Amino acid sequence: MLSIRDFSKKQIKDLIATAAQFENKIVTDPKYVLPPFICGLLFFEPSTRTMCSFQSAVARLGGTSIVLPGAKDSSMAKGETEMDTVRTMSQYCDVLVIRHPQKGLIRLFSESLEIPVINAGDGEGEHPTQALLDLYTVYKHCGRLDDVTVWAPDSERSRTVNSLRHILGLFDRNEIYDTHVLPGNLDIIYMSRYQKERFLEDAHTQRIVLDEMVYNTLPKEVGIMHPLPRGPELPAAIDNRTDCAKILYFDQMKNGIYARMAILHNLLKNNVNK
Ligand code: NCD
Repeated sequence: MLSIRDFSKKQIKDLIATAAQFENKIVTDPKYVLPPFICGLLFFEPSTRTMCSFQSAVARLGGTSIVLPGAKDSSMAKGETEMDTVRTMSQYCDVLVIRHPQKGLIRLFSESLEIPVINAGDGEGEHPTQALLDLYTVYKHCGRLDDVTVWAPDSERSRTVNSLRHILGLFDRNEIYDTHVLPGNLDIIYMSRYQKERFLEDAHTQRIVLDEMVYNTLPKEVGIMHPLPRGPELPAAIDNRTDCAKILYFDQMKNGIYARMAILHNLLKNNVNK
């Protein structure tokens, strides 16, 4: 899974349905049982949720993870190239999950490998597994995949919003706005961290903060999402509020387990031990 652009609407719908099966624990069906497998995790950029929810997904599917520590503790400290490092890991695993700060590089790596590769975020490019868990979260909140209006303010260079735009675009009449004013008929507010590592200089623009004052104006039907980690745009003061809009970002991170189980299952069901 390198990009959402490689998927059809039908494939995404099937993955959402599989994620729901995993969440509802209907996994006794032999259709959902995988032979033992090994998943390699190579993160050339920091991660908490993506890395750990993949490990959790692998464990729940009965597989094993091999995590390569950052450059400091691997043979890259002796000058080994990233390509040789990736190729080495591919010899030990049935599937590789890779995150890299450079857009497009994960696809390039995958072209030299014989096992499936999952893009866990490539610079400001894409974050397809996040898009699937985000869509699953939208689906759980709205009960549909069409006719959804999302407001994603201050999301320049956000790979999660980039991929969310693609996945929502597969369905009908979905709108995603990055305006400074709230659009009408809103279903989801998708906040995101200012991607400071992707700007040479701080843009110094006034950014939207979803503080208690803003929260108090939001109707109950609106769901608030954030891929996390958060910055000042999402004060923790609203975390436990239930009276206005619905806080979805904790459930959203948990949905990462089920979405990633579905992705791994889909990639490996015909591929393990070949
Ligand atoms: C995001 C990412 O890495 O792109 N985090 C995540 O995977 N949950 C968002 C971010 O870093 O701002």
